[in-house]
Amino acid sequence: MEKVYIESYGCQMNFADSEVVGAILTGAGHSIVTDIDEASFILINTCAIRDNAEQRVRHRVRELRAMQGRRHALRIGILGCMAERLQNRLMAEEDNLSLVCGPDAYRRLPQLIEQVRCGKQAAEVELSTTETYADIEPVRLGSNGISAFISIMRGCQNYCSYCVVPYTRGRERSRDPLTIVAEARSLFDQGYHEVTLLGQNVNSYKWTDDTGFPELMDMVAAINPQLRVRFATSHPKDLSDKLLEVMASHPNICRCIHLPVQSGSNRMLQLMNRKYTVEWYLDRVDAIRRYMPDCSITTDVIAGFSSETLEDHQATLDLFRRVRYDYAYMFKYSEREGTYASRHLPDDIADDEKTRRLNEIIALQGEIALENNKSEIGKEYEVLVEGESHRSKEQLFGRNSQNKVIVFDRRDAQPGTYCKVKVRNCTAATLLGELV
Ligand code: 5AD
Ligand code: SF4
Repeated sequence: MEKVYIESYGCQMNFADSEVVGAILTGAGHSIVTDIDEASFILINTCAIRDNAEQRVRHRVRELRAMQGRRHALRIGILGCMAERLQNRLMAEEDNLSLVCGPDAYRRLPQLIEQVRCGKQAAEVELSTTETYADIEPVRLGSNGISAFISIMRGCQNYCSYCVVPYTRGRERSRDPLTIVAEARSLFDQGYHEVTLLGQNVNSYKWTDDTGFPELMDMVAAINPQLRVRFATSHPKDLSDKLLEVMASHPNICRCIHLPVQSGSNRMLQLMNRKYTVEWYLDRVDAIRRYMPDCSITTDVIAGFSSETLEDHQATLDLFRRVRYDYAYMFKYSEREGTYASRHLPDDIADDEKTRRLNEIIALQGEIALENNKSEIGKEYEVLVEGESHRSKEQLFGRNSQNKVIVFDRRDAQPGTYCKVKVRNCTAATLLGELV
């Protein structure tokens, strides 16, 4: 049987999918190895969201060619969004690949590996309208035993004009809530203290008319007050007061909402097909702060989308000043083949101008994050301790409910437990504290 090494790139969803792949392969008798030098098969789970994500994978595939030169039996396969987007083209372009498997076809991986063993190339990229892998108990890869992902739905059909995800991950479908609650409970029984419910757009989660995302959150949060519950990602158009009410009523639902805004200009939002306005977005931000004054808000933003003027860009900076995010993932627009934007909206902002605008957003966000963190000094938080700090063995790090990383002298504290920590100092990225 094969010794499979899985390498993951991209979003949390991909890391969760790799754990499903791990379960499917071990179920078929293969083993998962954590040392690449032991592998007979390397599977790379890929992201297609921006061109630079794809280039990184291409580079990696070429780098692995040298390893194949030394170990002739070593096979390499591509999973995930790049597999779905490029299909057989990928194996034609990178001739050291043997296997391509899209995100809804992982159950077929054992057969595909078998085909490769018979000397053939293998590809399966069929998307599904029903596959959720609900019955598969993921093999936790690279886990700290404290925090785990649970994928609750798959796909996206929002069709934001710039985005390739609806084409690589297919239609939206939700997983049976009972299987989600059972998975969360089993994780808690194994000693995990935090679960993150994942979906491309979690607030569209819908099992029946009576069971949507707020109801699911209510069920998962009720498992145990010692189990923290997080979720990602939310689309602003579906962020309901009902969800905020459920969050506010469970202290173990973490006070952190990732709410991608993409742009602060209504003209851009319309071209992006985001289906909300800046005013709607700010109303949702106000609602979050009304229900949970201590809730952290984070975002995604794109600089230099089609026809973006300096005025549109200023509107994004203004919005950042207004919302004061704790964290932001900031990107340059990257045109993706097959999307609405690639067919109808020219990629007409020069690359160096995109970079300049992006850097302006990054600099502003850096200032805001530092100011936000400074205002935390003197506050006490319950921290779930995750492990040793990267800098010193004498220090531990963990996160508060707001998802901020706090580093502190370890004394008698243990990973996997909750500790009270008082914030004493900070940088833009980290809080520094001491046990109380
Ligand atoms: N170019 C740049 N950023 C993109 N994103 C999605 N598609 C693109 C693209 N074509 C960003 C969005 C999304 C995040 C996951 O990636 O901000 O929220
Ligand atoms: Fe892409 Fe928009 Fe779907 Fe997010 S909501 S995955 S940005 S299409």
